[in-house]
Amino acid sequence: MTLDTEPTPAPYPAALRAPGTAGAPFEALIDVDELPPGAMLRVTRGETDLLLASTPAGIVATDDRCPHMSAPLSIGELDGCVVACPLHEGRFDLCTGETVQMPTTGGLDADGTYVPTWSPAGREPKVDPPGKKAEARRLTRVRRLRYYPLRIVDGRIEVALPAE
Ligand code: FES
Repeated sequence: MTLDTEPTPAPYPAALRAPGTAGAPFEALIDVDELPPGAMLRVTRGETDLLLASTPAGIVATDDRCPHMSAPLSIGELDGCVVACPLHEGRFDLCTGETVQMPTTGGLDADGTYVPTWSPAGREPKVDPPGKKAEARRLTRVRRLRYYPLRIVDGRIEVALPAE
């Protein structure tokens, strides 16, 4: 496949680098041609499920786990930089690590501020009955995404992975 512009790694906030990746060795995962613009792919190494995504800002590597309740983002929908989780309507910006739309279940945002439950347009508002499950939903914090350092060498996407 020939691309007009060479794919590049996307920049990401340094504070959001995945733990254990500073100085970690890079490992070649896939050919860059396997990830065309707008595509997402899950790649598993050991116990780590990675999400590789080709966004308008470049290629990112993050966990293939929704920052809400760990659903695989790789089977969600990618629109530009924003991925929609297949569960609970959460939407996350792969280019900044920020939540764009909190899940329908509500909960705590990345800064710890409570956000109530909500319902998509046209659906009845959900009642959140009192009890442990509702409390668990309220106390679930939706963190910012974490990024794995990524580089492209000889047409291969390489990602720094922490030692297991
Ligand atoms: S698991 Fe993704 S929004 Fe809930």
